[in-house]
Amino acid sequence: MKPYTHEPFTNFNDEMNKKAFQDALAYVQSQLGKEYPVIIGGQEITTEEKITSINPANKEEIIGRVSMADQELAEKAMQAALTAFESWKKWRPEHRANILFRAAAMLRRRKHEFSAYLVKEAGKPWKEADADTAEAIDFLEFYARQMLRIKDGFPVNSRDGEYNQYHYIPLGVGIIISPFNFPLAIMAGTTVAAIVTGNTVLLKPANSTPVVAAKFVELMKEAGLPDGVLNFVPGSGSKIGDYLVDHPKTRFISFTGSREVGCRINERAAKINPGQIWIKRVIAEMGGKDTVVVDKDADLDLAAASIVYSAFGFSGQKCSAGSRAVVHQDVYEEVLEKAVALTKTLTVGNPEDADTYMGPVIDEKAFNKIMSYIEIGKQEGRLMTGGEGDDSKGYFIQPTIFADVDEKARIMQEEIFGPVLAFCKARDFDHMMEIANNTEYGLTGALISNNREHIERAREEFHVGNLYFNRGCTGAIVGYQPFGGFNMSGTDSKAGGPDYLLLHMQAKTTSEML
Ligand code: NAD
Ligand code: ALA
Repeated sequence: MKPYTHEPFTNFNDEMNKKAFQDALAYVQSQLGKEYPVIIGGQEITTEEKITSINPANKEEIIGRVSMADQELAEKAMQAALTAFESWKKWRPEHRANILFRAAAMLRRRKHEFSAYLVKEAGKPWKEADADTAEAIDFLEFYARQMLRIKDGFPVNSRDGEYNQYHYIPLGVGIIISPFNFPLAIMAGTTVAAIVTGNTVLLKPANSTPVVAAKFVELMKEAGLPDGVLNFVPGSGSKIGDYLVDHPKTRFISFTGSREVGCRINERAAKINPGQIWIKRVIAEMGGKDTVVVDKDADLDLAAASIVYSAFGFSGQKCSAGSRAVVHQDVYEEVLEKAVALTKTLTVGNPEDADTYMGPVIDEKAFNKIMSYIEIGKQEGRLMTGGEGDDSKGYFIQPTIFADVDEKARIMQEEIFGPVLAFCKARDFDHMMEIANNTEYGLTGALISNNREHIERAREEFHVGNLYFNRGCTGAIVGYQPFGGFNMSGTDSKAGGPDYLLLHMQAKTTSEML
């Protein structure tokens, strides 16, 4: 087998690729409005209550209608997953991995189709959609290979007359709860990590992006996944989310989403309910308030580009988004001017157009929240560009920069999750590090500097799970930059890392006297 390398991104300057993507968009257009069932133990169940998934760039357009599971169906899915676990846990790890390899190959062949769903359902511009699909392929390829590496456990010492072994077994039934912003990659990655390690799961996708999740569940079945291993239970977070988190048979929860929901899950999961005989394991990857720091000895064009693309990629709706620029006072005005000029060149519009840089934000709630932060920003800083929103057709917000924001201001501290960037001036490098670490989060960060001493200091002092030098702070690659954050950014599980799968397993020691 070829060593793992990440899936290359599509070059859309190539007319053939451009045409293939346009064809995929036309194909997905022809599939809009379909219904998608709940799937439990391989059985497709259509319910009365449905999520209507819409195109955030065009509110009138329905992407699909997805049946919602209630508590009764959630219980049925739990029972199906418990039954399937008894056989799935005995599958040879190589055979489980083979299903992921096949799914990766199938997804690669249908890459543009899945990306086109991401354009339509999540409002991702082409490049962002392409990267999301590539990351999903990477998770399949990478976790399958990792499973092959850890399947026999690790060597331990044995004394004369004894034989000690150390290996990993699966945990049980896991609840996978995924966010809207990487509706394919994170949903798929968290699901298949749990599955390849021998667990069975209930997948609850984000309510604004359930169709792409339904398409992925179909693909896993076509790849040969047995019924009951992956149960698809779209539904209300508060109704079935709480029910499943509290369930005594839930063995682990793999959550990615906001701090608020992650902390709620962590707290509820800690309570032992009647019939429960284990402590639930919780993986919770949560929000960020990420900073690009610019030193006085820096390439200022690189600094401006790093700031702007980290802040506004996918309309700032990345946990890794660089929503704060902290710049040394000596170069502050110049970097600000360059960043504002670059931001003014960004195109905002329909993500179906090849040259759109920024599409809409995900829904009305997000639109209103971001616009209210823009109002707060007007009190807390100097509006340099943007500041406008238009929700007449879709949920569009201009990329917005506020200058001269105090380090403790709300727009410097709270996750906005939209295209809003705050600029803050720092006195010196000590001050830069102090500001960089002054939030409750600790997910990503970047330092733009040509000062070796400062780079090494930041390596130690800048307290984030993913720290980048002389580049932006988004775009971690599976197997290259394992991803996860400190403090209120979560449990630092490091998705796409060499030890991620172990979080879904428990280690067993056996010692035999010879
Ligand atoms: P969200 O917290 O609103 O929703 C995430 C998921 O939780 C959804 O499926 C939702 O339906 C579900 N949910 C809601 N209430 C629930 C409950 N009571 N019990 C169980 N599940 C419940 O997040 P979102 O808006 O979809 O995603 C954006 C957030 O995710 C941002 O804060 C972002 O920073 C974070 N995020 C973090 C990472 C990371 O790796 N750290 C990656 C992507 C997104
Ligand atoms: N893994 C994604 C990034 O690094 C969130 O941008």
